Amino acid sequence: MDLNITCIPGDGIGPEIVAEAKKVLEKVAAVYGHKMNFTDILMGGASIDVHGVPLTDEAVATAKAADAVLMGSIGGDTTTSPWYKLPPNLRPEAGLLGIRKALNLFANLRPAILYDELAAACPLKEEISRAGFDMLIMRELTGGLYFGERRTVEENGVRKAVDTLVYDENEIRRIAVKGFDIARKRRRKVTSVDKANVLDSSRLWRKVVEEVAADYPDVTLEHMLVDNCAMQLVKDPAQFDVILTENMFGDILSDEASMVTGSIGMLASASLNDTKFGLYEPSHGSAPDIAGKDIANPIATVLSAAMMLRYSFDLDREADAVEAAVKQVLKEGYRTGDIMSPGCKKTGCREMGDLLAARIV
Ligand code: IPM
Ligand code: MG
Repeated sequence: MDLNITCIPGDGIGPEIVAEAKKVLEKVAAVYGHKMNFTDILMGGASIDVHGVPLTDEAVATAKAADAVLMGSIGGDTTTSPWYKLPPNLRPEAGLLGIRKALNLFANLRPAILYDELAAACPLKEEISRAGFDMLIMRELTGGLYFGERRTVEENGVRKAVDTLVYDENEIRRIAVKGFDIARKRRRKVTSVDKANVLDSSRLWRKVVEEVAADYPDVTLEHMLVDNCAMQLVKDPAQFDVILTENMFGDILSDEASMVTGSIGMLASASLNDTKFGLYEPSHGSAPDIAGKDIANPIATVLSAAMMLRYSFDLDREADAVEAAVKQVLKEGYRTGDIMSPGCKKTGCREMGDLLAARIV
């Protein structure tokens, strides 16, 4: 089949890791008889440098016309990069928030898995990590605090800033449905995370999630306050299957969960709307300090490409092959610097891409 994919190499290590994911996808196409049609667009700092804005209407239109979007990473060093001297709505991150909204990508799936081969990288005590873990954070991505009205004013000589956290029941329901649907394909447990002891938006969240849960009697639902969840993630991560939560809580908890795996360079993500369309990107950032050195880990982007094959194209066999190639390369002892351990073979970004592509047969 023809796969029309818009790529966003972006900033920092983005272009390097996207190049390796493309390499792997081209190999998939050759082996399984598909055709990859890649079109690149600029976003983030790369777009600011050329167009003066982090996302153009043309770039959005190109992305919309594709079947799926594969992204590297955007943004630079917030203390030194000139991009961060610009007003907030013109900075790199505004491009990412803008494309999520423009494409209605309300469901963000962030798996956090402890890989057997990389268990030594887990920063938790062995007695906790021994149980292993495999959770999926389902983060609401186009509502809440990050999209509410905001302003900074001065009243009687006092500067004041206001952000607003708004959710309506439809926004909560559609993400909850996604969460329960995916739980059915996993271990059938949803932990809905909120701050219902303080926030109205969380009390509504809890009510609507319970309404949705009534349609899924085979899935266990539990509620957890966000502060407790932050604690439980390091105390007993094995208890989680699907964590269902709103935008800001999901932003924070997904960084924590990825750190707990000890291998953030391995973690993929998918942002989906109500159709098969999705934007796929690694969970990690643009790592400007190591950009251009051929030492970045492309695996998270390659695994994001596997999620794309699975969710946007229904190519399960091909997705399995990519995931198997990752496991195989790890088993053979190849590691990029971020996941290196004694006795393993250190590889660069390009070599890792070559190794992965060669294992798709
Ligand atoms: C993420 C990032 C973004 C977010 C930023 C860059 C706007 O932290 O994808 O988690 O907060 O959503
Ligand atoms: Mg984040």
